[in-house]
Amino acid sequence: MILLYLVQNRLFLQTPFRIVHNVTFQCNCRCQICERWKRSAKHTTDMSKEKIFTMLEDAKQAGVLFYVAMGGEPLLRKDLPDILRYAKKLGFVTSVVTNGYYLKERHAEILPFTDMIVVSIDSNDELHDTLRGVKGIREKAIEGIKACKGGNTLLSIYSVICTLNLEKIDGLVKLSQDLDIPITFQPMDVYKGYNDHLRPSGAQLTNVFSKILTLKKAGHKISDSTQYIKYIQQQRSYVCHAPKSFIYIEADGTIFSCKDILDKPWGNVKDCSFKEIFHSDEFKEFCHQVESCNLCSVACVIEGSLAHSLDPLFIVQQAIATHFSFMNVK
Ligand SMILES: C[S@@+](CC[C@H](N)C(=O)[O-])C[C@H]1O[C@@H](n2cnc3c(N)ncnc32)[C@H](O)[C@@H]1O
Ligand code: SF4
Ligand code: SF4
Repeated sequence: MILLYLVQNRLFLQTPFRIVHNVTFQCNCRCQICERWKRSAKHTTDMSKEKIFTMLEDAKQAGVLFYVAMGGEPLLRKDLPDILRYAKKLGFVTSVVTNGYYLKERHAEILPFTDMIVVSIDSNDELHDTLRGVKGIREKAIEGIKACKGGNTLLSIYSVICTLNLEKIDGLVKLSQDLDIPITFQPMDVYKGYNDHLRPSGAQLTNVFSKILTLKKAGHKISDSTQYIKYIQQQRSYVCHAPKSFIYIEADGTIFSCKDILDKPWGNVKDCSFKEIFHSDEFKEFCHQVESCNLCSVACVIEGSLAHSLDPLFIVQQAIATHFSFMNVK
């Protein structure tokens, strides 16, 4: 069904197939790799759920299939279950990306409306708490995953590689094995002036991703596609189709493509429609212009681009995979 959608979208609709919605600016962590927590003090105006419902209807009309709830920390939003229920009712494939701190206490509210829950864990020891600035968060995230097991919702761990956790791959793969859920690895994206000092060198990435490839070949549940791992390992360039495959909605409704290179939003969901944006010459021109941009190394960008270009090897691998790892998000 998803493959058919991708082909139809590519041939006829040609619209981003996924919206990544930061449902709140608020965050309970103080991550060393991510500066979003710093923004929460400045931004307080998350969209109301009614506005979000209207946005979802509009996205559905425009042909979007995947709805990803992120943030900030999405589980800080009390009405998240209502948002997911509505998205599900409209026919979206829904995911939540969470740091897991509140997962155990809130899992029952969201599970019925969530196709996939991605829990961020960057080291299977005390380093994770240090990286996130919250004591006990690793334990809580693991308890949350265990609470979610046994239903229809797919579960996955998401690990970001920076200079501090290069040696933690084995422990993370063991965690995925113990919990019997897949894990996705990806290099840290740089937020200039915030986490530059944690960026792994090219050689470090080559080493780590060679190891990840070996572990994947040995049968571990590593959901990065082989193509993606090779892109990182060999630092290959790619044709970026990311703006054609997903679009970001900030908590206040602002619509962005790639903030790093286009600081200008496309508008706000409160006063413009996705169809208008996706079909505008300006949007098409932008998508075309950035095809040679290779700033990002996260899986959602490279795998989203492979999916968009209907890369045959990638599509076949994904079609036989037991879950939709390529729908993971930054
Ligand atoms: C921005 S967070 C929002 C959701 C939630 N707060 C969480 O931490 O899972 C979404 C994902 O991006 C990852 N992330 C954060 N900073 C990153 C960076 N600099 N590069 C790549 N991924 C990053 C997080 O680890 C998480 O898996
Ligand atoms: S990675 Fe998630 S938990 Fe950490 S600061 Fe960013 S939004 Fe918050
Ligand atoms: S590589 Fe460039 S164009 Fe592609 S998503 Fe990243 S910033 Fe945007």
